[in-house]
Amino acid sequence: ARTRGHYPAPIRALKLTASAPRTPLERGLNAEARALGELAATDVCKNLVSIFHLSEEAKKLGRPDSEPEPATVRRAGVIGGGVMGGGIAGLLADKGVDVRLRDLSQAALDDAVGEHRARVGRRLRRRRIEPHEARARIDRLEASTEAAGFARCDLVLEAVAEKLEVKQAVFREVARVLGPEAILATNTSSLSVTAIAAGLPNPERVVGMHFFNPVHAMPLVEIVRGEDTSDAVVAATARLAVKLGKTPVVVKDVAGFLVNRLLGPYLDEAVRLFEAGADPRQLEAAAKQFGMPMGPLELLDEVGFDIASHAGASLHAAYGERAATTGVLARMMEDGRLGKKNRRGFYDHPEVPEGTDPKKAPKKTLSTDLSRFVERDLARGQDFADQWIVDCLVLAMLNEAAHALEEDVVSGPRELDLATVFGMGFPPFRGGLLRYADTLGAGEVVARLNRIASAPDVLRRPGGAARFAPARSLVELAETNTPFHAPR
Ligand code: NAI
Repeated sequence: ARTRGHYPAPIRALKLTASAPRTPLERGLNAEARALGELAATDVCKNLVSIFHLSEEAKKLGRPDSEPEPATVRRAGVIGGGVMGGGIAGLLADKGVDVRLRDLSQAALDDAVGEHRARVGRRLRRRRIEPHEARARIDRLEASTEAAGFARCDLVLEAVAEKLEVKQAVFREVARVLGPEAILATNTSSLSVTAIAAGLPNPERVVGMHFFNPVHAMPLVEIVRGEDTSDAVVAATARLAVKLGKTPVVVKDVAGFLVNRLLGPYLDEAVRLFEAGADPRQLEAAAKQFGMPMGPLELLDEVGFDIASHAGASLHAAYGERAATTGVLARMMEDGRLGKKNRRGFYDHPEVPEGTDPKKAPKKTLSTDLSRFVERDLARGQDFADQWIVDCLVLAMLNEAAHALEEDVVSGPRELDLATVFGMGFPPFRGGLLRYADTLGAGEVVARLNRIASAPDVLRRPGGAARFAPARSLVELAETNTPFHAPR
């Protein structure tokens, strides 16, 4: 069931295993050899192997034999010990880096340290690590509300509130005690790294290190190169990301960087389909059947409507009409819905008492009174086909990806594909967003974009059809019948 019919290998393996007891050895081995041969030649296999190669290549970004050798971070500071900073500090300590964590709030620090200890404790109980290693991991994280203790850090990462003045003040203060070479990394998700660096001494050492939530689970880190960031700092930061077990992708300092810039239109299209009367259940199922790890409405609940609206507004400010967002989330917030964080979003999230076995915990269910957020004007008993839903969601993202490539936000289609698979869970068997575009062919992509752009309710909505007007580079690829990726 979990392959949703997209991954042939586990099914084949299961069938062979089930028939093995009734099959003579030699015939069984032959059948396995044939299965392996057939599976290895499928597009799914080629896509998965290409994702593997891309991630191996990305890890070379900060490799020690590049010239000059990137600096190694041995001691790090983290400022802001909330959801992100706490997770990042724990990860650093896990991976052998001495960390000093600072927060203004003792409660935040207690939570961060408590969570780190609990995580280490789980590894120890499962015998993944030895007792001395568990102690070392715990000892490597020191937490304090004091400003002191950062002088010897090779890198200080900030994960404080998402406000430019606060981030600048934090960096100004810590820059006073740091050497000029020490790296200042920001985990900002929507502010400009260049703006944060402005006015700081040695702005070339300011870089974005954009982790995704949850820190321990998400494999991608966007390394954001500000206008002044030096190559050496980019390389050292990428190297640190690799040391933390993450895959780095270097991106330009533009609104949303890469992953959130693409997720923006995807999530907004989901809300617009909902608004226009698509059944939320069908919407979620169509995205999952396409291969996304969760439905877009579920993802919005996870992100939180306040954060999503804020991100949407900054994308709109940067990219204009094609990034205009619907007002549905604002209306839902007026109704007191924020998503999972207050247990009311598109879903009702039941309260789960602490210590409940996650397998036995009550499940969230789609909220039953969502219909009042549906725009009567748009919802005219339209018939939404699964393919239409998927096209609206995925092609909105794909068109934005073409714009991002035109602007050199990322070094090429390969890196973009890697970021979509590792940063948003784009289905790995499809090989990434642009590989998917190549499967359709640029001509077909442009034709489908034009079809959506001329749909009556798309034309009538705020922002109109701008999002689906095919990007220049897509049209060029379509005219010359060229794929994003070199043929393999
Ligand atoms: P949070 O609210 O959980 O944590 C922020 C922490 O910073 C709080 O504990 C607060 O007490 C502390 N703080 C505020 N000002 C401070 C100061 N001057 N000195 C020391 N500590 C201070 O926020 P969260 O979610 O961890 O976000 C932090 C940063 O990470 C933001 O820039 C956010 O945009 C970014 N980010 C958040 C993601 C998310 O999904 N939550 C994902 C990626 C980036």
